Amino acid sequence: MIRLGVNVDHIATIRQARRAAEPDPVVAASLAMLGGANGITIHLREDRRHIQDRDLLVMRQVIPTGLNLEMGCTDEMLGIAVQHRPDQVTLVPEKRQELTTEGGLDVIGQRAAVLAGTKQLMDAGIPVALFINPDPAQVLASKEVGAIAVEFHTGQYADATTPQAEWEKLHAAAVLAHELGLHVHMGHGLNYLNVQKIVRIPYVEELNIGHSLIARASLVGMVQAVKDMKAAMMEHYPHKI
Ligand code: PXP
Repeated sequence: MIRLGVNVDHIATIRQARRAAEPDPVVAASLAMLGGANGITIHLREDRRHIQDRDLLVMRQVIPTGLNLEMGCTDEMLGIAVQHRPDQVTLVPEKRQELTTEGGLDVIGQRAAVLAGTKQLMDAGIPVALFINPDPAQVLASKEVGAIAVEFHTGQYADATTPQAEWEKLHAAAVLAHELGLHVHMGHGLNYLNVQKIVRIPYVEELNIGHSLIARASLVGMVQAVKDMKAAMMEHYPHKI
């Protein structure tokens, strides 16, 4: 079975739009686990635009297993990870201006920093995955810096109008990673349709999905949410007839 990691960042995005207390990504994470998620993924960004430090703290207490922390490879984040001990760290590239994580980590270009960060985490007993494009050179570099897993960026596959060529790149990269002894994860832009071809790629062990899942949750919950509000309005309505 392929594990599903549910990314709850967007729940925090809604909360931060009002700097309010709800919706709480920790509650969303617990519900996702009840629904059958195998793990929870959160991205603690340097600018704290969605997930906050408190979310990681509380999430670590209520999600017993499968907590995957996405983060940039910076001293600040490495310290936070070692302190809070997620079950896995996925190192991602991070630019403040981007809407979402736009490309894979350049493990070759940032080899020294990624190697040191990976070592620090692995020495602390935290397994490290590297979020990379399905590029053979990056897969080899990921192995060399000591990661135990790679997460292939599926964004180009998801965005392609004819995705076959991108799918083949993912397929070849998964085979190579497996041959090198790396665990294979995938994520970004996956939805209820394009996931069906992804699960046919061999050796995929984990998918991390956020946007499409939170988008659907917000819509399928709408009917109930409105019913609940109408009921709340009626409860103390003085002019009951
Ligand atoms: N995996 C990684 C490394 C990501 O950065 C993201 C987006 O935060 C995802 C998976 C989930 O992508 P999406 O929200 O498009 O499903």
